Amino acid sequence: MLKHLSVTNFRNYLRLEMEFPPGLLVLVGGNAQGKTNLVEALYYLSTFVSFQAESDRQLINFLVAHEPLAVARIVAEYQRGLVEHRLEVRLIVENENRHTAPRLRKEVLLDGAKQKLADVVGHFSAVAFLPQSLRIIEGSPDDRRRFLNLAIGQVRPDYTEALVAYTRALQQRNALLKLLAEKGGEADQLDFWDAEMARSGAKIIHARVQAIHELEKLAAPLHRQLTRGKEGLACLYQPAYDPYPTNSSQYRLPVHVSIDREQLSLSQIQEGFLEALQKHRREDLQRGLTTLGPHRDEVRFFSNGLDLTTYGSRGQGRTAVIALKLAELEWVRSKVGFWPLFLLDEVLAELDPSRRQDLLDRLVFYEQAVLTTAEVGLFEPAFLKKATVWQIENGNVLETATAQEE
Ligand SMILES: Nc1ncnc2c1ncn2[C@@H]1O[C@H](COP(=O)(O)OP(=O)(O)O)[C@@H](O)[C@H]1O
Ligand SMILES: [Mg+2]
Repeated sequence: MLKHLSVTNFRNYLRLEMEFPPGLLVLVGGNAQGKTNLVEALYYLSTFVSFQAESDRQLINFLVAHEPLAVARIVAEYQRGLVEHRLEVRLIVENENRHTAPRLRKEVLLDGAKQKLADVVGHFSAVAFLPQSLRIIEGSPDDRRRFLNLAIGQVRPDYTEALVAYTRALQQRNALLKLLAEKGGEADQLDFWDAEMARSGAKIIHARVQAIHELEKLAAPLHRQLTRGKEGLACLYQPAYDPYPTNSSQYRLPVHVSIDREQLSLSQIQEGFLEALQKHRREDLQRGLTTLGPHRDEVRFFSNGLDLTTYGSRGQGRTAVIALKLAELEWVRSKVGFWPLFLLDEVLAELDPSRRQDLLDRLVFYEQAVLTTAEVGLFEPAFLKKATVWQIENGNVLETATAQEE
């Protein structure tokens, strides 16, 4: 549970010290006052990436960004079970050296000791439900892989590590493929990177198989409730390299397929993936890039047999995203043993009244949630009575007295 947050020079927050109440916190503020920035800061603590910025540099406050030493800092004090922790992230840019382009350095300290980023991802855990979360259904495969990566990364530190290793090996392999295609040379130079990709890629595939299956088990009943018993939800993993290839007649049995894939061990996947990479080598050489592997994976969501990405209505997409986000919350809790902080940035405004009410009704079950809104009128007075309501104004949080009484 989050107790305290300090923010320095992050976005439009020059200096913020803020206590967090347990339960529901509603932050009300007009346009461009810093609602999304605060949610971004909180989510950053759990993943060390921004859900909106292309580069971390954008996160440093404009006023200090060009000083010789520009530092943005986010510090959270929180409790995991009975143990108190303090997590600090620093974004540091040294603009002093005029000869080299300034680089951004990220430092993470847990309880005062410097840590490798990958080791502390998810130590402070949060689930973010944002207007752009709808892209999980409506967006590209990239959006869906991102959803998986952020969720799985929070519960398994080795996953983030595997992703980093995989991405590096993939880049190296692609560079080498290009070089070989242009200049020729011994193709067996690829062996090393094939092995690297197989090792880290297998970990990613293995984790995704499990995660998707577990998320589905949690999301399906939630989705059924949200649709008043009418529609189920199936999450279908479509790996680019499939360790358990299915023929087209099995295609309609996503649940069984995922159970079968779960039987595969990490080393079986690794061996199979390595073999497949070698089989694809000729094609990859012709195209100058790696065609197979988790960087091309897809996951699709089916409601009553219909692929929501292709055929779903906007409303169906929204319901599925609500179910997935609530499932993610429960999944993280089942894995790490503590409730993650639930962040909802202006999502209510996008929902019709009945979906909004369904979502609000569930929020009381979770330990702690932060909701932002430009329009406090979207909340029922009965809901506000259960919540703490504060204002956000120009990079400040004001604990204003509100109408609700204990
Ligand atoms: N690096 C930055 N330094 C200072 N201000 C920033 C920075 N990045 C964004 N902002 C400002 O933050 C404001 C937007 O805040 P945001 O949290 O998105 O508002 P909202 O309350 O509408 O969600 C804008 O006025 C923008 O100029
Ligand atoms: Mg906003």
